[in-house]
Amino acid sequence: MTAIKSPKKLIEVALPLDDINVAAAREKSIRHGHPSTLHLWWARRPLAAARAVLFAQLVNDPGYQRELGYGVNKKEAEIKREKLFQIIRDLVKWENTTNEEVLNRAREAIRESWRETCHLNRNHPQAAELFNPEKLPAFHDPFAGGGAIPLEAQRLGLESYASDLNPVAVMINKAMIEIPAKFSGQQPVGPIPETDKDNKKKATRDAFETWSGAKGLAEDVRRYGHWMSKEAFKRIGHFYPKVRITHEMVAEQPDLKAYEGEDLTVIAWLWTRTVKSPNPAFNHLEVPLVSSFVLSSKKGKGAYIEPVVDGDQYRFKIKLGTPPSEAKQGTKLGRGANFNCLFSNTPIQSKYIYEQAQAGNLSQRLMAVVAQGKSGRVFLPPNKQHESLAREAKPEWQPDNLMPDNPRWFSPPMYVVA
Ligand SMILES: C[S@@+](CC[C@H](N)C(=O)[O-])C[C@H]1O[C@@H](n2cnc3c(N)ncnc32)[C@H](O)[C@@H]1O
Repeated sequence: MTAIKSPKKLIEVALPLDDINVAAAREKSIRHGHPSTLHLWWARRPLAAARAVLFAQLVNDPGYQRELGYGVNKKEAEIKREKLFQIIRDLVKWENTTNEEVLNRAREAIRESWRETCHLNRNHPQAAELFNPEKLPAFHDPFAGGGAIPLEAQRLGLESYASDLNPVAVMINKAMIEIPAKFSGQQPVGPIPETDKDNKKKATRDAFETWSGAKGLAEDVRRYGHWMSKEAFKRIGHFYPKVRITHEMVAEQPDLKAYEGEDLTVIAWLWTRTVKSPNPAFNHLEVPLVSSFVLSSKKGKGAYIEPVVDGDQYRFKIKLGTPPSEAKQGTKLGRGANFNCLFSNTPIQSKYIYEQAQAGNLSQRLMAVVAQGKSGRVFLPPNKQHESLAREAKPEWQPDNLMPDNPRWFSPPMYVVA
């Protein structure tokens, strides 16, 4: 078998490690446009490190190698190496991720090294098959996980393949490597959402767009998202009404003054389970089982719920400020699922709650509504209309497959072989 002549790679000699480390650390705080925002992956590698390491594995070190008759003298090698280092320094910067000038410099250096390797192996018996200077070898990461490595190989100009045992990893890799490449450079085909037609600026921008890279695909995903949200709204939108901030609400909660008369979009409805009080004098009343009344413990933005008892009724009031210790405790009594009756302070033991739940006697009550304000979240008291709308929702479908009957151990059942 004829030995393959393979010059030492840059990574075997030297790397600008400090620059790679700084860029890799910085990447952790990038939130927009990073694969980590596509899907969480526990062993995600920084793209900067993957890009730098791949590049340094693909380019030849310029130093002289007597046995191959390859390379240049020490002084010249230093100069050439510094040039390659500069490519790495530029490559690892987040803002250069899609900078074609920087990427092309890197791609050309890789192709040049490949041509050198092909030349060294021009007399290899399989040279035609293995050492085509016009075609870089393809890249395959068989354990691709979050896909950082095949994504960067593709970016550096290699035909890239990824595989993994885990279907989530396969999905991430399809979304990052396979699908965008398939639709690269194509314009979107989905109908422009009606809201965009009114938006002249967006329509003009679209008309002049070249739809390079995955821009067309991204625009189609956005258009499809619009369609999905419109369809969802048609079917279930009536269950998600906005909240009108009334004069009475402002009188009770002065922080709402800035929103008086406005309709705010709801982000969340906070409910509590309730159970009939075990105290015989109060057992006609449903009391809340709340493990914390704290809505926000952010410094300067604290908010909590205060239950206000009036005779044999109670309501939830929103208070602003640092939550007091009793708010942090909700209606809980020590550890475990033990609570206090809001009216009588009678302990409600977990055994009692369990029996009531088994008998189908638990109920629920809306505690607070979280809405989107101009500069963050706004906490609102429960709203009768919203509460009754939610109670009216009757699902038309329910799963009919068997579920594991151990609620603490939810692993999938064994495959059944027919
Ligand atoms: C450490 S992770 C890979 C991380 C990845 N290189 C990255 O940059 O994010 C190892 C991966 O190997 C996969 N794996 C383990 N055994 C495998 C097997 N027999 N066949 C294919 N993939 C396997 C795991 O599902 C996991 O995603």
